[in-house]
Amino acid sequence: MNQFVKTVLSDVFDNSGQILSLFPESCTGMVRKNTVDQILEILNISIVDFQTKLLPVAASFHITPISAFAVGAVVLGESGNLYFGSNIEFVRTGLQFTIHAEQCAIVNAAQHGEKAIRSIAVNAAPCGFCRQFINELNDVDQLEIILPGRNPENFQYYLPDAFSGKDLGIKTGMLNHPILTYQIHGIEDIDDLSKTALLSANSSYSPYSKYVSGVALRLKSGQIVGGSYYESAAYNPTVSSIQSALIKTRMAGESMDGIQEVVLLQSENQYCDYERITIEILDSIAPESLFKLGLIVPFPISD
Ligand code: THU
Ligand code: ZN
Repeated sequence: MNQFVKTVLSDVFDNSGQILSLFPESCTGMVRKNTVDQILEILNISIVDFQTKLLPVAASFHITPISAFAVGAVVLGESGNLYFGSNIEFVRTGLQFTIHAEQCAIVNAAQHGEKAIRSIAVNAAPCGFCRQFINELNDVDQLEIILPGRNPENFQYYLPDAFSGKDLGIKTGMLNHPILTYQIHGIEDIDDLSKTALLSANSSYSPYSKYVSGVALRLKSGQIVGGSYYESAAYNPTVSSIQSALIKTRMAGESMDGIQEVVLLQSENQYCDYERITIEILDSIAPESLFKLGLIVPFPISD
């Protein structure tokens, strides 16, 4: 566990050794259900209060060289696990690549295999962009938004008259879509980095463009981190696979400095191409990294 997480955790829980010892070293960007249950019992508080209490911990993951404004989000998955998210800003490029805390927490939950989200706590009211991104979730009718000092409200309260996938004839949701079966084209000897990128690509959520992509990063520590692609019905709050991989890196408590190698696998698509966007974001965060691009194709190949 990172030092900054430890410091905030001890602040939040008044240095209580009993509570702090329940947080496992390995679970940096999340808290598993069994830990959640134990802490709720000891502290005798509700899950809503616990999520609110954890907001400074989630916010401590922020990377905000531009705003110095730390946003934290704590998502409750259907499994009972909690997932942290924080905002991540990139310098020397467009502001539109900024990752919001809510997006970060949702992608964190998605990349841990969560199939539905029950509630999202945030330390500041979610912006319009995030409300649109949240609206992409399945089971959004039952989703609760938790803001400190206010009663939890159903998501519809925050986004009435929503524009959604249904307006475009799409019924799937971001977390319960089918896994794809794309394969790498034209390479026999597939390395571990490309294998991870392929797994991530096959979890793409892209009902609007049907573009499929996945990224894998090799960190300085040697660890490999994948990232999947998540579209929005309004197109703009879409999260690219490089952003997802950076979210996973950050929420695992790993450093983004010294990313050594990056693979982007993408399908041929008449609308979307993220090669230059991936390089653009990498130039901000890891300009020295070695970038490779590969093509993936649907399998079995349809005529
Ligand atoms: N921010 C969020 O993370 N979530 C929101 O919904 C509001 C804004 C971040 C984005 C940027 O890093 C900073 O706050 C200032 O807008
Ligand atoms: Zn936002």
